[in-house]
Amino acid sequence: RLGKTVRQVLASTPTDELVQVNGWVRSVRLQKRVAFAMVHDGTCTQSLQVVFPDPRMPHRLTNGASVRLTGRLSSSPGPGQAVELLAESLDILGECDPVTYPIQKQTLSSDYLRDHAHLRLRTDSPGAVLRLRGQAMQALHRYFERHDFTYAHTPILTSSDAEGAGETFRVAPLTSPGSTAGAPAHSYEFFAKPAYLTVSSQLHLEAIASAVARTWTLSPCFRAERSQTNRHLAEFWMLEAEWAFVDSVAGLTQVVEDALKEVLRLNTTERRLLWKDADSDKHALLEEAAGDAQWAHMTYDAAIRALQLREASSGVKFQFPPVWGHALQSEHERWLADELVCGPVFVTDYPAALKPFYMRLNDDGKTVACFDLLVPGIGELVGGSLREERLELLEAALERHGMDKEAYRWYLELRKFGGAPHGGFGLGFERLISWIGGIDNVRECIPMPRWAGRMLL
Ligand code: 4AD
Ligand code: MG
Repeated sequence: RLGKTVRQVLASTPTDELVQVNGWVRSVRLQKRVAFAMVHDGTCTQSLQVVFPDPRMPHRLTNGASVRLTGRLSSSPGPGQAVELLAESLDILGECDPVTYPIQKQTLSSDYLRDHAHLRLRTDSPGAVLRLRGQAMQALHRYFERHDFTYAHTPILTSSDAEGAGETFRVAPLTSPGSTAGAPAHSYEFFAKPAYLTVSSQLHLEAIASAVARTWTLSPCFRAERSQTNRHLAEFWMLEAEWAFVDSVAGLTQVVEDALKEVLRLNTTERRLLWKDADSDKHALLEEAAGDAQWAHMTYDAAIRALQLREASSGVKFQFPPVWGHALQSEHERWLADELVCGPVFVTDYPAALKPFYMRLNDDGKTVACFDLLVPGIGELVGGSLREERLELLEAALERHGMDKEAYRWYLELRKFGGAPHGGFGLGFERLISWIGGIDNVRECIPMPRWAGRMLL
């Protein structure tokens, strides 16, 4: 039997039966006639108050020690929790030296906790973030199940840099057969072609969507992104959905908005705990985004004009001048979402030259049927597009991007054999957690973050 977790115990009613609870000590308070301990097991935001009728019982108990307790649940006179445990026995399963234990009781900074990534999940916010990831994933599962999207597992090892951004990690076996020990194998050796860690599951999802109509995945993605920002990781999780028979960008953004509202409407103790540390403006914006009102839309063209107008009317210059044909910089994205719209905004129809080969060309011959979703405090959260389903145009795009047509023969075949209009999107899962949790940096949104220069454990 698994026994009861702290969360389950806290949700039960007082009883005369003996219950057993396991966990880690958060604090101990010794008084003359009685002693108290708070015991946490990471299953919820709260700790269980344990009362020791004999104050000698917990005398060796320290912060961080792991314990097994048995006792009876009685109703708690104090505020905050309905029940407390009247302890009858205590086993210390693992001691914890209170002097050298890195997780001391005073507030610990994010930087300090990042340096102790193996221990930081024991503290409140990182633990809540971990559970919030699970809650967000389940909300998304519910949305996609309801709409008949088949969940798919896509490869991590791939043969292409689908995004063409040159941020791909190449992989190779440590040694090749017959080589002198330690000599690194050529990256072609194992598969007879170069192998990479995936940057996106999209191309594989397109093949799957051409078989099951609607599909989605939540998969690790890897990017050798060197810039040090609050929104980039070298290993992150991307939610990607791809579906057939969609033929407008508005059809894509509707799914993004509906799926995200399902997550934004989560009202869990984890979210409330995290929000305690975030400012109240953020809450108001998040609550507004979760409401029924449709999110804003603007074309790239209109976004550039708004940015230029802002420079002209305020006299304040962006670091990068907004110019049609140039990528939107993070400062531009932030201004659009934080200042102009004050909420999420879909920016659509970017110039073809700024985007990967697979996006569907618009009738103007200059822009593509795509969108980025920008959100306050973060900037780009989602990117997606209709995919070019017209064979000749797709071949021309491959050529324009200097890509090897032979390597993409399977991808071209999807257009040849029953090719259907289709499209999809990719959403950075850590950026989503940072948005809905009001957390400033994606490095706090994944248990063991990796970025250029950092891979602790
Ligand atoms: O905009 P991106 O590069 O789009 C694609 O890869 C498409 N193939 C997705 C698709 O249409 N199926 O990445 C999608 C999202 C970004 O909007 C961002 O939220 C996140 O993935 N992302 C990152 N998150 C954390 N760290 C990084 N280095 C990220 N790079 C992208
Ligand atoms: Mg993008």
